[in-house]
Amino acid sequence: MRRAAWILLGGALLSVGHWASAGEEDDARLSGGATTVFVTNKHSFGKSAANLPVEDLRKFAFGNRIFNTNWVKAPASVTSFDGLGPIFNRVSCSGCHVRDGRGRPPKSAGGPWNSMLIRLSVRGAPGEAPGPHPIYGGQLQNRAVQGVAPEGRPVVSYAPFTRELPDGTRVELLKPTYEIKDLRDGPLGAGLLMSPRVAPAVHGLGLLEAVAAKDILRLADPEDKNKDGVSGRPNWLPGKASGAKVLGRLGWKANQPSLRQQAAGAANGDLGLTTSLFPTDHRTPAQRKRIETPNGGVPELSDEHLDKLVFYLQALGVPARRNVAAPGVLRGEALFTKVGCASCHTPTLHTLPDAKPPHLAGQTIHPYTDLLLHDMGDELADGRPDHQATGNEWRTPPLWGLGLQKVVSGHTRLLHDGRAHNTLEAILWHAGEAKQVTRRFEALPAKDRAALLAFLASL
Ligand code: HEC
Ligand code: HEC
Repeated sequence: MRRAAWILLGGALLSVGHWASAGEEDDARLSGGATTVFVTNKHSFGKSAANLPVEDLRKFAFGNRIFNTNWVKAPASVTSFDGLGPIFNRVSCSGCHVRDGRGRPPKSAGGPWNSMLIRLSVRGAPGEAPGPHPIYGGQLQNRAVQGVAPEGRPVVSYAPFTRELPDGTRVELLKPTYEIKDLRDGPLGAGLLMSPRVAPAVHGLGLLEAVAAKDILRLADPEDKNKDGVSGRPNWLPGKASGAKVLGRLGWKANQPSLRQQAAGAANGDLGLTTSLFPTDHRTPAQRKRIETPNGGVPELSDEHLDKLVFYLQALGVPARRNVAAPGVLRGEALFTKVGCASCHTPTLHTLPDAKPPHLAGQTIHPYTDLLLHDMGDELADGRPDHQATGNEWRTPPLWGLGLQKVVSGHTRLLHDGRAHNTLEAILWHAGEAKQVTRRFEALPAKDRAALLAFLASL
């Protein structure tokens, strides 16, 4: 895989001079193929794909409205948007995915959790997989409708420590610790596993859903046969409809197979809305006895509205890269492959020729992910298995749009729990399978490290 990337890269370097006149397929700016949008302002993750047919724009706008709707407690006068809770995390999708961008940890210690959540489970008996918490379920809901108490209040604190690079450069990193206070139904008890996660940006996911499973599996190397220290495993999930295993692609541990299931799961877990996929809300049986509230219809989020919401996510364009031909950026791009970042952050993938909706079909895309799970070491581990993902494994996140995150989301926090404050910190947290790659990065002269970061900023 890495050799192929070199050849590609060689080609790209040779064609630098011709960029302006090059055909679309060699245009390095087109991260999302023909869906790519040329927008660099705070709305750059929220635009419809450049190649979306005009007749689909109304459907996109309607889906956008559902994504931004503030749901209310049932019964309400607007019956199609009632049924919130009774316990929930936010009242809208966009409450966490603000402007379709990424969430962040609270701004101050003890501050409210506005765009981040904690998944919960308890360790099983020896040999058994962990399951959801018997009282609090699989996710802590830190908000509730009027008259109902939230499940608890998550709190994060950070302990600073210093990393020294081989050339003496010192970087301060912050190690987070999580606690849940004001627990409504008593202590969480022994064997608790917690996984704090920020809301990822949501652009380009339709394209990732449209990549053939076999292309992703080809990148997997579970036994590390090529001995590059990097393995990569798929997260196989139980299929909801047929029972056959399906490939996980979405979420920080690839714990969701499709945008439809992801959106319905979010409606259920994060907003407390039922759908045809998840017909009961997320209260555990223990809570059901104690909290009774009227529902907002059966289901609360109709199939028609769920379809529109999914279409909206499929139709979001990917922002174009900037400064692709700047010498520092090109040098950084070469180093990205040379030190081995590209062995997980796969630069190029292709979507299926018959993908639906048609604007997603046959695209050459540059997401910088293999959609596979990697052991990232003990420091990043949450210790909480998620389907076939172990407590140490995370899915390689796509890097497209990285350089616009500050403009869109107003911050540069990175990684699954937002502990990194910038791309340099994010890289320094990489360990496990990425250990050798991180070492090579750390050993680069300062100028080369800066070039690699400049490349990341151009994405
Ligand atoms: C409380 C904050 C919150 C709310 C509200 C929320 N999300 Fe999310 N969203 C997350 C988090 C956290 C993840 C990652 C989940 C994981 O890794 O398990 C996520 C993941 C996603 C993903 C997959 C992203 C990726 O890169 O794989 C999509 C799509 C998504 N959410 C859509 C929605 C939709 C649609 C809604 C409204 C119905 C919604 N979200 C509401 C926090 C939120
Ligand atoms: C072994 C696979 C692997 C290698 C090699 C690797 N990464 Fe990553 N990268 C990941 C995974 C998995 C995450 C998510 C970890 C987490 O959130 O805890 C990640 C996260 C990131 C992030 C933060 C993304 C986000 O959305 O928060 C950046 C930036 C990044 N990597 C850049 C790099 C660079 C630059 C290199 C090379 C120096 C590199 N990575 C090498 C797997 C890898």
